[in-house]
Amino acid sequence: MDEPYRVGPDVHVLPSQMVVPGVGSIPIHAFVLLADQPVLVDCGLGIDSPAFMDALRSVIDPAELRWVWLTHDDSDHTGSLQAVMEQASRAQLATHGLGALRMATWWPLPLERVHAVAPGDRLDLGDRTIRALRPPTYDNPMSTGIFDESTDTLFSVDSFGAILSASHRDVAELSDEELQGGMQAWATFDSPWLHLTDRARLAGVLDEVRGLGAERVFSSHLPPAIGRIDDLLEIVAAIPDATPFVAPDAATFDAIVDALP
Ligand SMILES: [Fe+2]
Ligand SMILES: [Fe+2]
Repeated sequence: MDEPYRVGPDVHVLPSQMVVPGVGSIPIHAFVLLADQPVLVDCGLGIDSPAFMDALRSVIDPAELRWVWLTHDDSDHTGSLQAVMEQASRAQLATHGLGALRMATWWPLPLERVHAVAPGDRLDLGDRTIRALRPPTYDNPMSTGIFDESTDTLFSVDSFGAILSASHRDVAELSDEELQGGMQAWATFDSPWLHLTDRARLAGVLDEVRGLGAERVFSSHLPPAIGRIDDLLEIVAAIPDATPFVAPDAATFDAIVDALP
């Protein structure tokens, strides 16, 4: 885990990263949204769990959380979910209903605390209403993002991720080349189906996201991006024509493992 930090008055980032030798660093971010009814968005990597819970407690007493919004049931988002649900005893779990049922096959997820969300659903947090949406790219059909209309803030799940050379706290710290190359490396890996898409229909999906007017974008796998949505959408629009990702073969994998710290 890296040190938590705050972006604006209402969002704390709980940052970690997964370093793949020869490939780069993949940011792994969870967030605390300080609404009247506070929300934890995702639960980090399992390997970080004690540090994740310390980071969470440095931002908010888990007992004060009213919602855990799980964007999808991938392991880079669920690491401390069980510990969080135990300590955040007042919190409901907002997530895709079938994702909740799938998770209940591998740990005793308290299904009575699940509030299933589908794209278009709204959640009243007291001082604001957030809306569930399907992110434009994804690696898991459970993926459910958030748009906070009161602050024009998009929690974009795996969309707009990037593989970088180091951790950063703001996309503005990256050169255009680092951002474009990093996002291309991520998206070709995470959403390989982009190469199969009808370009006009993909453009329509990206236009819908543009229409949200998101000022702040919090991707699970990108430093916070303020005022950059047009740049992010432009990069994703070009992914279908990028070189497809190739999975490591056995020799490449062995070399990666040998180079791990
Ligand atoms: Fe994912
Ligand atoms: Fe992810």
